[in-house]
Amino acid sequence: MPALGSLFSLASLMLICWVHVCFPVCVEVPSETEAVQGKHMKLRCISCMKREEVTASTVVEWFYRPEGGKDFLIYEFRNGNREVESPFQGRLQWNGSKDLQDVSLTVLNVTLNDSGIYTCNVSREFEFDSHRPFVKTTRLIPLKVTEEAGEDFTSVVSEIMMYILLVFLTLWLLIEMIYCYRKVSKAEEAAQENASDYLAIPSENKENSAVPVEE
Ligand SMILES: *[C@@H]1O[C@H](CO)[C@@H](O)[C@H](O)[C@H]1NC(C)=O
Ligand SMILES: *[C@@H]1O[C@H](CO)[C@@H](O)[C@H](O)[C@H]1NC(C)=O
Ligand SMILES: *[C@@H]1O[C@H](CO)[C@@H](O)[C@H](O)[C@H]1NC(C)=O
Ligand SMILES: *[C@@H]1O[C@H](CO)[C@@H](O)[C@H](O)[C@H]1NC(C)=O
Repeated sequence: MPALGSLFSLASLMLICWVHVCFPVCVEVPSETEAVQGKHMKLRCISCMKREEVTASTVVEWFYRPEGGKDFLIYEFRNGNREVESPFQGRLQWNGSKDLQDVSLTVLNVTLNDSGIYTCNVSREFEFDSHRPFVKTTRLIPLKVTEEAGEDFTSVVSEIMMYILLVFLTLWLLIEMIYCYRKVSKAEEAAQENASDYLAIPSENKENSAVPVEE
């Protein structure tokens, strides 16, 4: 029976692995919102589909809105990728996945002028027999471009906190060890005293009780 049980759990583990390999799990991870001038910036846009939705036709539109300005189209994906005329022309690279759940766009050589709000609009039309539902998802990415990759203040703080915690834990462990050691050695001393007391009594008892048994 245990063999059967482990075989079963192995089989289910293999099934889970197989499912993961065949149908990668789609997670709608939000995009980074900070870019460094001169570097590439991946504007991540993920729109997961349910299993039954795989027969959809997908249209993706990417918009850009400068500060205090209006949205304008910078990229379109409709049966293939198409860059539209915009100040971004020549600097945009399609970075989506084949199944069009990931429809990310990469901006090459980011400039300070690229700060603003990017919108990713995904429209899907599903081709079922009886009906053709239409689904739209929208993601806003407020992008801030900085001149240099300054060290993130919060990450510095958390790093310092980590070191403080580490030192504190080490000290605490040390104190605890010393305390334990003292307690153990004290207990040992006490035990030794007790043991000699304990040994002293039965030896008398033994002599007393030993006499009547023989005969
Ligand atoms: C996305 O872009 C990065 C860097 O430009 C590249 O390494 C990666 O292979 C691209 N991924 C896809 C799916 O095109
Ligand atoms: C990035 O842009 C700057 C100015 O716009 C240009 O001088 C530089 O050559 C560009 N770098 C790349 C890798 O395209
Ligand atoms: C940035 O934008 C300003 C005004 O919108 C323009 O004058 C300037 O030439 C732009 N710089 C670059 C590097 O595109
Ligand atoms: C994206 O789609 C939403 C929903 O249909 C719409 O309200 C919004 O105006 C679209 N965004 C742009 C920039 O067109």
